[in-house]
Amino acid sequence: MAKTYSTRVLTFLMLISLMVVTLNLLSMAEAQNKKKAPRKDVPVVQGLSWSFYQKACPKVENIIRKELKKVFKRDIGLAAAILRIHFHDCFVQGCEASVLLAGSASGPGEQSSIPNLTLRQAAFVVINNLRALVQRKCGQVVSCSDILALAARDSVVLSGGPEYAVPLGRRDSLAFATPENTLANLPPPFANASALIKDFADRNLNVTDLVALSGGHTIGIAHCPSFTDRLYPNQDPTMNKFFANSLKTTCPTANSSNTQVLDIRSPDVFDNKYYVDLMNRQGLFTSDQDLFVDKRTRGIVESFAIDQNLFFDHFTVAMIKMSQMNVLTGTQGEIRSNCSARNTRSFMSVLEEDIEEAITIL
Ligand code: HEM
Repeated sequence: MAKTYSTRVLTFLMLISLMVVTLNLLSMAEAQNKKKAPRKDVPVVQGLSWSFYQKACPKVENIIRKELKKVFKRDIGLAAAILRIHFHDCFVQGCEASVLLAGSASGPGEQSSIPNLTLRQAAFVVINNLRALVQRKCGQVVSCSDILALAARDSVVLSGGPEYAVPLGRRDSLAFATPENTLANLPPPFANASALIKDFADRNLNVTDLVALSGGHTIGIAHCPSFTDRLYPNQDPTMNKFFANSLKTTCPTANSSNTQVLDIRSPDVFDNKYYVDLMNRQGLFTSDQDLFVDKRTRGIVESFAIDQNLFFDHFTVAMIKMSQMNVLTGTQGEIRSNCSARNTRSFMSVLEEDIEEAITIL
């Protein structure tokens, strides 16, 4: 009798714990879905969609996230490096992976341009490895530009930043920009807020987008020559004096090859401390610090410094907007099998393209 009673109690307890585990799993799955729910307040450009690879490569996002978790465990600095590559891709010709192309017989690629010399080679290797992993699982169906956009999102998330869904369906470019065009399209660190506001407006990014995207500088590093114009020969009076002295120790000469973290409060964490730095006049570049000097951007900096959720919300919107700039879709471009080189074309397809071009000219 006693035995039957205890067996019943045991069975009851097991059922309860099973229910608790199931409910937990369900709410975790729901939380994950919720986190990645597409934002309805950001328009998706024609040709992209929130569920582009649902049939052709449903696991693509899992593959990338899982691999990057391993990569960042070894070197979290690569998260910053990947985020910056995505920005440099989108601002030059659009988000079509042209920055990933190595130079060719036609000339040097975008990576040879001055601002891109400090992109980290190890990060390009990571993107190529992701490309190989995805291709092994799904075939040649996911573009390098989509892999880069997803890897940039995961760099943010795995450093502590906000989760967001990325519209997919980008195609890869057949050509890269010249080093001169690349230089002309990337804002320099000595730009002031007026120049940045104009540059971003030309790309349909508003003042809030500019301040939010600059928050990408909450992670990563810079080389001395990117900011020593603020130290030598004269010290920028808008810079905190103690901060300037510490930078002079890091960079004893203007051309020192040393590096400095961008956000002195939490260099590897994607948070809102970058804005706190700006309020304390500890922004590294003029392009950062001037956002707190200029009346049009100062209030936004302050609001992000006191409210991390507000920053995350605006950063997400601005990233989704930036990641859709001048994308190639449909039959434009190609899906590269190696992110560093365009696919080799057959003699016939070259001939067909030449005939098409000749007809267009006629
Ligand atoms: C607003 C105009 C911007 C300017 C003038 C600018 C300029 C720079 C410069 C000069 C560096 C340091 C390069 C070096 O010396 O190694 C840098 C690093 C970085 N930038 Fe920007 N940037 C801007 C916007 C952005 C945006 C929109 C993002 C991404 C959302 C971003 C993400 C990064 C990251 C993560 C790093 C660190 C890279 C690393 O650690 O390898 N930047 N940026």
